Amino acid sequence: MTERIISPEPLTEEGDDLTIRPARLDEFVGQVQVKDALNIAIEAAQKRGEPLDHILFSGPPGLGKTTLAHIIAHEMGADIRATTGPVLEKPGDIAALLTPLKRGDILFIDEIHRINPVVEEVLYPAMEDFFIDVMIGEGPSARSIKLNLEQFTLIGATTKQGLLSAPFRDRFGIISRLDLYAPGDLVRIVIRSASILKIPITADGAEEIAKRSRGTPRIVNRLLRRVRDYAVVKGDGTITREITSRALSMMQIDELGLDELDRRILSVIARDFDGGPVGAKTIAISVGEEVRTIEDVYEPYLIQIGFLKRTPQGREVTPAAKKHLNNPQKTLV
Ligand SMILES: Nc1ncnc2c1ncn2[C@@H]1O[C@H](COP(=O)(O)OP(=O)(O)OP(=O)(O)O)[C@@H](O)[C@H]1O
Ligand SMILES: [Mg+2]
Repeated sequence: MTERIISPEPLTEEGDDLTIRPARLDEFVGQVQVKDALNIAIEAAQKRGEPLDHILFSGPPGLGKTTLAHIIAHEMGADIRATTGPVLEKPGDIAALLTPLKRGDILFIDEIHRINPVVEEVLYPAMEDFFIDVMIGEGPSARSIKLNLEQFTLIGATTKQGLLSAPFRDRFGIISRLDLYAPGDLVRIVIRSASILKIPITADGAEEIAKRSRGTPRIVNRLLRRVRDYAVVKGDGTITREITSRALSMMQIDELGLDELDRRILSVIARDFDGGPVGAKTIAISVGEEVRTIEDVYEPYLIQIGFLKRTPQGREVTPAAKKHLNNPQKTLV
């Protein structure tokens, strides 16, 4: 399967461009409530001369969870170590990460909802009282010893807060949810990235890219690069509304930032299931995607623009979605 240009997850070999990733809180666009809460927590911790409380970020991919973890480390002048939930299989894996941490250091665990439950158990006393129990030896001679840790800060990121157990969630002092970005914030991100990358862009060009980026900064930055290439080849290098429209219709991305697969999801519900309700599993099978991907990657935006509703019985499409489906050509410039 070819990769989606508008996937909010990083494409293979793409990585996030570190030159345009904000390094300080005041460069981080939007998410005002999250930033305000973090600013206060950081200032308070610094005034007390204490490490930060543990922090949990949740929200769809590509909205800046990893970026914020690095910003916090930067603002606190702390070292950060990063890992991801699925690679932590044994208690020893987490012990090896925790024991070298110095006071105030940050351990960042991405996809923390996918952590093994036995590892989670080790984290409880580590987070609460800064010690871990490790087993030495095997069989009857095995015994556990207690290892003290320095006071570190755990930052967890998850696309699925609901999958975290309540006792785990309760051990985070700060829980922040990131939402899809408002259009104005996306425009500011386009302009900021374009200026760092020295890409000439008009105001309406920036607006057009923002409008088609599904509320997601990672997609903003990717579309910006793709449209830049198109502008260099087909135009004079400047990104205008016209150039953006042409580049994105060539990539089958419509005015709302929807691609083939979004339209297929909507059309399965609208046509094959008479508008719904229909379960996510059935939708996933019909379009040949994983349920997790449908739920985390496609649905948040379709819900935000009012095309899809989640009901206890399943997913339903709205009249606006049907109208959009009936006019695909109108929206493909
Ligand atoms: N508020 C923002 N302002 C400017 N740029 C941003 C902002 N948030 C994210 N970005 C840009 O988007 C890119 C993706 O962000 P990031 O990697 O932090 O997302 P994420 O939420 O960790 O995604 P994932 O869930 O896939 O790990 C970053 O490299 C950064 O350049
Ligand atoms: Mg990330």
